[in-house]
Amino acid sequence: MENTVIYALGAVGALYLGTQALKFAYTVVNAYVIPGKPLKAFGVTRGSWAIVTGASDGLGKEFSLQLAGSGVNVLLVARNASKLSTVEKEITEKNGAANVRTHVIDFANAGDAEYDAFAKVVGQLDNVRMLVNNVGTNHEFPVEFLDENGKTIEDIVNVNINAQMRVTRIVAPLLVANKKGLILNIGSLAGIVPSGLLSVYSASKSFLRFWSDALAMELKPKGVHVEHIRAFFVVSAMSKIRKPTWTTPTAKNFVKAVLKNVGKSIDSAPYPSHAILSWFIETFMSESFAIKESNKMHIDIRKRALKKKEREAAAAAASAGKKEL
Ligand SMILES: NC(=O)c1ccc[n+]([C@@H]2O[C@H](COP(=O)([O-])OP(=O)(O)OC[C@H]3O[C@@H](n4cnc5c(N)ncnc54)[C@H](OP(=O)(O)O)[C@@H]3O)[C@@H](O)[C@H]2O)c1
Repeated sequence: MENTVIYALGAVGALYLGTQALKFAYTVVNAYVIPGKPLKAFGVTRGSWAIVTGASDGLGKEFSLQLAGSGVNVLLVARNASKLSTVEKEITEKNGAANVRTHVIDFANAGDAEYDAFAKVVGQLDNVRMLVNNVGTNHEFPVEFLDENGKTIEDIVNVNINAQMRVTRIVAPLLVANKKGLILNIGSLAGIVPSGLLSVYSASKSFLRFWSDALAMELKPKGVHVEHIRAFFVVSAMSKIRKPTWTTPTAKNFVKAVLKNVGKSIDSAPYPSHAILSWFIETFMSESFAIKESNKMHIDIRKRALKKKEREAAAAAASAGKKEL
């Protein structure tokens, strides 16, 4: 009887380990070997239009450069006109074949008039096939909810939630009318693991994930593939990380991986190391453990950010003192 129990427990353990090993192997093969669908499977071909929000910097700029590099016309959308025209110039010089247009809108403060103007520009484009809901804003650095200023909270909700809804309600009907299209929603690790000291950003990205997955179900029968992209750390102005590592790619390599792996699922971690981290978190971390670890990480990031600010303030005061002498 005792032996039977031991054998049964052993069999359950072996089955569990076997299943996890298979899941890990699938994660690795899926991340590094199995390709996604080509963009043309979604009607995103040379001469069609893609609309990229937050296109003047970071991931959005890379999406724009790489799409234009494949001959796809791009409407670059962001709030800073001069940064947008620099990106437009860079794309035009590198990829003469693709048309590039820019549209300035500040999603933090946009109202009906601004969205109407955006809709008018989008309505003038012929054969719109892709939308990259990339724009996002974050707390300047980790801070407790009660200490955050009201305007930053409002901006995060406006940019990370309201803008995604309003832009999609303008662009998606065109994709549906064309019966083929692609929407990428750029999410975050903070939308998977509730992140203390980034509470509003984290909640906004979690909103994005749920909305994206639900929208994917609604638009699939209409020929539009909606995919939520799990971005973990990427080198950019927002992350304030300058040096790439195995887990923190450059925006260029991250976007390359997204465009290579698109279409495999509605909720993906297309950068290989992010896929492995995603698997690790979901397999080995309980939600409560992950929340605690994330909170600890942000307390630490906050301490370092405050120290950096102090150093910068001291350096600025010292250089102001020198000038006076
Ligand atoms: N970098 C990461 O580690 C990371 C990790 C996870 C998720 N993500 C997500 O990836 C997306 C892109 O992030 P990123 O790192 O590339 O950020 P980034 O380098 O800071 O670029 C943000 C872009 O959004 C635009 N933008 C910001 N606020 C805007 C507003 N109110 N109205 C219009 N445009 C605005 C910026 O335009 P301006 O030039 O006008 O400022 C810029 O083009 C975001 O959704 C972010 O949450 C990033």
